Amino acid sequence: MPDKHRILCTRRMPPNVEARLGRDYDANLNPDDRIHSADSLLAASEGRDGILCAGGDPLSAEVIERLPDRIRILATYSVGYEHIAVEAAKARGIVVTNTPDVLNDATADIAMLCLLGAARRGAEGDRMVRAGEWVGWHSTMMLGVHVTGKRLGIFGMGRIGRAVARRARGFDMEIHYHNRSRLAPALEDDAIWHDTPESLLAVSDFLSINAPSTPTTRRFLNADRIAHLPDGAVVVNTARGDLVDDDALITALRSGKVAAAGLDVFAGEPNLDLRYRALENTFLLPHIGSASLETRDAMGYCCLDNLDAFFAGGPCPNAL
Ligand code: DGY
Repeated sequence: MPDKHRILCTRRMPPNVEARLGRDYDANLNPDDRIHSADSLLAASEGRDGILCAGGDPLSAEVIERLPDRIRILATYSVGYEHIAVEAAKARGIVVTNTPDVLNDATADIAMLCLLGAARRGAEGDRMVRAGEWVGWHSTMMLGVHVTGKRLGIFGMGRIGRAVARRARGFDMEIHYHNRSRLAPALEDDAIWHDTPESLLAVSDFLSINAPSTPTTRRFLNADRIAHLPDGAVVVNTARGDLVDDDALITALRSGKVAAAGLDVFAGEPNLDLRYRALENTFLLPHIGSASLETRDAMGYCCLDNLDAFFAGGPCPNAL
């Protein structure tokens, strides 16, 4: 029997994923889930044929340049791949794959949780009950932003954005979106396309950010753009924290220009801007968009399918 291919797995994985990885590969696991620095990642890559990596791993162009020649594939356990210098990898003949589709539903569920949690003051209510400060029902207690029938603007109408739209239609929301190009009618499903972000923002009673982090989208939601939102809009971000200018959003949350924000992702996470924690009108989650066991297993199997296809000599299903 030929030797198994040797894989560095940079993070701890769900048990089913590690079991399959261990069955089919000579796997270097990370049971303590320690976060790799560039140096430790490079050292651990020695003698490996490929890397099963994850969001936040330091795979910059400089690191990729120094990877051992033997590394031929980077399979990231994420749909987002802004942590990988993909062009630098390609220039070295290293294949990069990601995990699209399998996390659409879980992430869209969390977008709706953020939307509802922010609009209806979910975190504040939870805190009140836990602190024993709830003194009883009151007709004007904890009034939130009404959701049903409002306009939802989706910035980034890809697979996750469309899954958010499907859920929001169940709340009778009117769906608007901005993408670089308009979707085909079957994908659009009566959502209203805006050819500029500003035009989208002007109708977004609720704004859901669902675009990847790229040089073009970084700091998309800045002070100028927030000014286009209707007064009292609700902002939801389940994509990447760096799409938001934190100073601008926090200023808008303080003034009430933005009534509330539901955020699952943060610039520099887990070291988020601490001012978010002090605001009552934020609903904050620790980047759990894809955190259901079924989804995390599916993400792992997706990585393994890509590794299997690569080492079998075929094209990878999710090569970038
Ligand atoms: C991704 O897949 O990019 C997510 O952010 C990780 O859950």
